[in-house]
Amino acid sequence: MPDNSNNQNIKTMKSIELNIQDALYFAEHQYIADEAEANAAFGTLESRSGAGNDFLGWINLPSSITAEEIARINKTAERLRENCEFVVCVGIGGSYLGAKAVNSALSDSFADFYAPAPKNPKVLYAGQNIGEEYTAELEKLLTGRKFGIIVISKSGTTTEPAIAFRILKELLEKQAGKEAAKDLIVAVTDEKKGALRTLATQEGYETYVIPDNVGGRFSVLTPVGLLPIACAGHDIARLVAGAAEMEETTKHPGAENPAEVYARMRNALYRTGKKTEILVNFNPKLHFFAEWWKQLYGESEGKDGKGIFPASVDFTTDLHSMGQWIQEGERTIFETVISVKEPAITRRIPEDAANLDGINYLAGKRIDEVNKMAELGTKIAHVDGGVPNMRIEINKLDEHALGQLIYFFEKACGISGYMLGVNPFNQPGVEAYKKNMFALLEKPGYEKETEAIKAKLK
Ligand code: PA5
Repeated sequence: MPDNSNNQNIKTMKSIELNIQDALYFAEHQYIADEAEANAAFGTLESRSGAGNDFLGWINLPSSITAEEIARINKTAERLRENCEFVVCVGIGGSYLGAKAVNSALSDSFADFYAPAPKNPKVLYAGQNIGEEYTAELEKLLTGRKFGIIVISKSGTTTEPAIAFRILKELLEKQAGKEAAKDLIVAVTDEKKGALRTLATQEGYETYVIPDNVGGRFSVLTPVGLLPIACAGHDIARLVAGAAEMEETTKHPGAENPAEVYARMRNALYRTGKKTEILVNFNPKLHFFAEWWKQLYGESEGKDGKGIFPASVDFTTDLHSMGQWIQEGERTIFETVISVKEPAITRRIPEDAANLDGINYLAGKRIDEVNKMAELGTKIAHVDGGVPNMRIEINKLDEHALGQLIYFFEKACGISGYMLGVNPFNQPGVEAYKKNMFALLEKPGYEKETEAIKAKLK
């Protein structure tokens, strides 16, 4: 266990604290050696002179969102909330994960089991898979119910959401009538191009534009994420304000910039053989935040034969499954823990006269005190077992902290991608499966690919 006397602690303006001490111990020489490179990567990003620089609209996005834009999104959300028991967000990848991450983090864990009602609709997701049962079961749930649709696709041509939207639109029009359905459908897409833009214009849906210079996985703070988050009843102004604060905090290079420090530390670990980063939470509400993070880093960095593999676990749940591997498996991993300082609700462990379960020594303690000791105990065990550990602490799980975290990880991703030597803003590899799928499905225009893939299958 490293000596923590000289704590490498970076506290940002408000509620986020990054501690790299228990990672530094494993790769200090590399971390020191990488200082100039990290500053240069930051400079490349900020000066917009690196690869993919036509996709940097997210850098100043939080501070440039106006009160009018927020008000318009809230007004649309209010219309859907008033008229719907369910709002279905149709989208995949960057057009899905940000909203899902924030809504899961901020909603009651059992929200889905309470009765839906207009003014307090349930936000559901579709088009994020091609599961036939999933789609059919969703259709079954929505049959006879009041629902609305937010269909989201930057390209406007993605197959998964297109299939789901076709089915849900048909159901909505059948139930509400074609005219009324128009008020219950909102499209978020490119300003001019793509099939969804054409469809939305022809049908007369309200639309929101995804800026050209913001890629899917960096788009949660555009209407792509903000509209579904507002529909779930969360405060998007606070989310944006948190992100804007982090934008300010990460404006300058160096050791005071938590995004640069995180990017530099993870690359130092990668360069010393730690090829997998596990994002850890001790709060199940953060499960989908990790899914968003995995997309952000996986799609941004996994290219040219390089990239830290982004994995995630929910603790303590996964200590009873993945814990063994992490403690004693191949020493090629490091952990980044997101820790929430103060849970929103207090629940203490009761005393039990019989004490048959033997846990009276915990009576009177908050459940979170046990969780925090699990967190500390796990960290010590994993570090002792050779797993470097970074820790990001947020005060509370609220809109403000999530906005900060989102921007922190986005900024760090840009810096980290440039340190790795890749273009963090493209995703050429995503096309490979699509090309094969289209060829196999005999999509018009793919005749040559169809012939080639069929020959391979013989
Ligand atoms: O980050 C990305 O660019 C991707 O994950 C996209 O968001 C995803 O493929 C969905 O694309 P679209 O919004 O064009 O339907």
